[in-house]
Amino acid sequence: MEVWNKLAYIAVLFMMSFRPSSSDIAVLQHHPNDVVESQHAMSSCNLFQGSWIYDESYPIYNSSVCSFIDKEFDCQGNGRPDKLYLKYRWKPSACEMPKFDARDLLRRLKGKKLMFVGDSLSLNQWQSLTCMLHAALPQSNLTIQRKGAFPTFNFPEFNVSLMLCRTPFLVDLVTEKIGRVLKLDSIQNGNSWKGYDMLIFNTWHWWLHKGSSQPWDYIQKGDQVYKDMDRMVAFEEGLKTWSKWVDSNVDPSKTKVFFQGISPTHYRGEEWNASKGMSCKGETQPLAGSTYPGGPHPATAVVKEVLSNMSKPVTLLDITTLSQLRKDSHPSLYGDDATGNDCSHWCLAGVPDTWNHLLYAILVSQGKSKPM
Ligand SMILES: *[C@@H]1O[C@H](CO)[C@@H](O)[C@H](O)[C@H]1NC(C)=O
Ligand SMILES: *[C@@H]1O[C@H](CO)[C@@H](O)[C@H](O)[C@H]1NC(C)=O
Ligand SMILES: *[C@@H]1O[C@H](CO)[C@@H](O)[C@H](O)[C@H]1NC(C)=O
Ligand SMILES: *[C@@H]1O[C@H](CO)[C@@H](O)[C@H](O)[C@H]1NC(C)=O
Ligand SMILES: *[C@@H]1O[C@H](CO)[C@@H](O)[C@H](O)[C@H]1NC(C)=O
Repeated sequence: MEVWNKLAYIAVLFMMSFRPSSSDIAVLQHHPNDVVESQHAMSSCNLFQGSWIYDESYPIYNSSVCSFIDKEFDCQGNGRPDKLYLKYRWKPSACEMPKFDARDLLRRLKGKKLMFVGDSLSLNQWQSLTCMLHAALPQSNLTIQRKGAFPTFNFPEFNVSLMLCRTPFLVDLVTEKIGRVLKLDSIQNGNSWKGYDMLIFNTWHWWLHKGSSQPWDYIQKGDQVYKDMDRMVAFEEGLKTWSKWVDSNVDPSKTKVFFQGISPTHYRGEEWNASKGMSCKGETQPLAGSTYPGGPHPATAVVKEVLSNMSKPVTLLDITTLSQLRKDSHPSLYGDDATGNDCSHWCLAGVPDTWNHLLYAILVSQGKSKPM
C-alpha cells in the first residue's frame, strides 16, 4: 500500500502541468494569482509521452558557435553529411513545451550552482546546456575552466555556475591491495556533491562494461567480495546506496535533485525492426509514433522502483522512451575516431538539448508554486 502511495506521488512529479497553449508563460508568471489561476486553467500533461515532429526552425543552435564542444559530440564538425536529424522537435501528446528561453532560465538560476554528476552522458547533457545558453546569449562573458577537480562553466552576468563531476557509478571505485574494487555500499564520492542548488545525477552505462573496458577487478557488498555478479542487481544496489545518500544529505529547501534517466543505445537493429546486425549507423530519421518497438528499457524500472522508495523528492527526467525513438541522433562514425561506431552518446545539437528543454519545462512548472 505504502509503495503505491509513493508511486502515486512520483507520478504526480512526472505530470507537469501547462496550458494547452504556453505562448504566454511569461505573462502567467507575473500574474499575482497565477498559482490559483494555473490550477484551474491548465490540464495535466506528461511531458515525456509524445513524439518527434519535423520543425524547420531546428536545431536551436549551430554547433559551430559552440567552440568548446568536445569532438566526440560534434557530428557536423566531424563531417556527418546528413542534416535531417537536426530538425526534430519533441512534442508531448497532451500539451506544448514552453519555448526554451535561455535568459529566463539564467534568471531563474541566478546566483546558483548546479552540478551534473555521472558518466559521459552527464558530460553530453552538461555540454548541451552550455551550448544552448551560450548560443542564445553570445554577448554574455562565459568563462570555461576545463581543468581541476570539476570542469566549470560560469555565466558571471547571472552568477550561475554549471559544473560536472565525472563518476560513472556514483558509488566508490577504490584501489586496494587486491585490485580495483567497486563498492556497492560506499559513497564517499558524495562529499563533493554538497552545497549545490541543483544536482542532476546519472548512472547506468558503465555497469554493463566487461573485459578491457571494465574498470574494476572486484565488486564488494558489505563484507562480501565478488569476482562478478548480475549487473542489473549491482546497478540496483549502487542506486539504493545513492538514494540513501540523497535521503540523508540533501535539504530539499536548499537543493533540487534530478535523476537524468536512462539514456538508451542503438546497437541492436532488431529492437526497432531493422535487420539484425544493423545499428544506428546510417540511420537518418527518428522512429515515428510514441512507442519503441523494442519495448521499455529494463534499467528504467529499477530507477523508478528505487526513486519510489525515497523520502526526499527527486524528479526523474524520464527521457528513455523519447531517446529510444532517436536511432538517428548518435554520432556513429562521426564522433571521436577512437570510439568507432558510437551508438551510445548523442550528437550536439541533438537529443540532450531536449533533455535540457524538459529540465527547463519542469523548472518553469515548479516555479509557479515554489520559487527556487
Ligand atoms: C552552421 O554554421 C556554419 C557556419 O556559418 C554553416 O556552414 C553550417 O551550414 C551551419 N550548420 C547548420 C546545421 O545549420
Ligand atoms: C554569486 O553566487 C554565490 C553563490 O553561488 C554567492 O555566494 C555570491 O555572493 C554571488 N556573487 C554575486 C556577485 O552576486
Ligand atoms: C563582457 O566583457 C567585455 C570586456 O570585458 C565588456 O565590455 C562587456 O560589457 C561584458 N559583457 C557583459 C554582458 O557583461
Ligand atoms: C517490421 O518489419 C516487417 C517486415 O518488413 C513488417 O511487416 C512490419 O510491419 C514491421 N513492423 C513494424 C512495427 O514496423
Ligand atoms: C525501501 O526502503 C526500505 C527501508 O529503508 C528498505 O528496507 C528496502 O530495501 C527499500 N526497497 C527498495 C526497492 O529500495
